[in-house]
Amino acid sequence: MNQKIVRVAINGYGTIGKRVADAVAAQPDMKIIGVSKTRLGAEAYVAQDRGYPLYIADLTKKKAFEDAGIVVTGSIDDMLGACDIVVDATPGEVGASNKALYEKHGIKAIWQGGEEHDVAGFSFNSSCNYQDAIGKQFVRVVSCNTTGLCRLIHAVDGACGVSHVTAVMIRRGADPHVVKKGPIDAVVLNPATIPSHHGPDVNSVLPDISIATMAVIVPTTQMHMHAITIELKETTTREEILALIAAHPRLGLVKAVTGIVSTAELKEFVMDLGRPRSDLWENGIYEASVSVVGKTLYLFQAIHQEADVVVENIDAIRAMTGIVTDPDTSIQMTNESLGFVAIGSE
Ligand SMILES: NC(=O)c1ccc[n+]([C@@H]2O[C@H](COP(=O)([O-])OP(=O)(O)OC[C@H]3O[C@@H](n4cnc5c(N)ncnc54)[C@H](OP(=O)(O)O)[C@@H]3O)[C@@H](O)[C@H]2O)c1
Repeated sequence: MNQKIVRVAINGYGTIGKRVADAVAAQPDMKIIGVSKTRLGAEAYVAQDRGYPLYIADLTKKKAFEDAGIVVTGSIDDMLGACDIVVDATPGEVGASNKALYEKHGIKAIWQGGEEHDVAGFSFNSSCNYQDAIGKQFVRVVSCNTTGLCRLIHAVDGACGVSHVTAVMIRRGADPHVVKKGPIDAVVLNPATIPSHHGPDVNSVLPDISIATMAVIVPTTQMHMHAITIELKETTTREEILALIAAHPRLGLVKAVTGIVSTAELKEFVMDLGRPRSDLWENGIYEASVSVVGKTLYLFQAIHQEADVVVENIDAIRAMTGIVTDPDTSIQMTNESLGFVAIGSE
């Protein structure tokens, strides 16, 4: 590993962008050179409080920002001229329209799961295909649900082979602060058609996995919940699966002794552990649910939609810039810099 410090810009300082910015700032081999906003609001104050240079999309708004006490360093174009790599965390389907800008600046770019695979031509998960991302100019970090599925399926496939996966995603209705989507009171088929897009999205990372997914949205903001059935190629035991989870840096085990049987209690637990923003970066697999019947594995896992992709973005930066070529080293650096080991493996 050389000692180069990668200069990172965050285009879109919202739910994901502000978390990735804080995670980048915690890395010894990366530096935040700026974050962007289009509108004046609470997040602009947070960026300033964190000491991140703020760049805005439309410089005609500079006076309004400065009248509100927010220092504007320049335009998004200026920010892109000062970085090695940009993490695009603009709202889903906005990011693709920024591609020409990133190409113009000749910089590397990471998009999020709200964009199609084709925007980058490569979909990333640290545990599955880190080395294939080394040196790439463009990468897409897959969505929160796909990230959680890929981590688990890849680990189980490596241990005992996967014949087929059936996964039901019980999805949060909105992120906690997104009040414009509420109040709501319904279980919504999303989509009504089967399979949902999650299965094909898993195949963008793990092309050889047979998988069918179904999804509903429910009135909660805390986390997603996955009900998963995996048909195995080889016989295993519940104990072997629990050991596999405990040994994995991004698979957390919600121990039965905690008494936690919900996303709300899990969120409270993570908050009490002192995690910033009560973020659960790893999968939250409920120990009590892990069952092996014949050659079939069943379990429930909670996925914190705002958090699990954050650590993946950090590893993607290391892979694309080539500053660390070993996935395990990068994953360990990322976890250590954020001060966590996966729950249940402490
Ligand atoms: N939230 C999740 O649960 C989640 C999980 C995994 C992946 N993702 C993906 O991550 C991406 C970002 O989602 P998010 O939830 O973080 O969205 P978000 O909370 O809406 O944040 C997006 C931010 O981008 C800014 N923005 C809007 N238009 C922009 C533009 N043209 N140029 C620059 N910035 C712009 C907005 O800031 P202004 O207020 O200044 O306009 C907003 O704060 C999406 O692809 C999404 O699918 C989201």
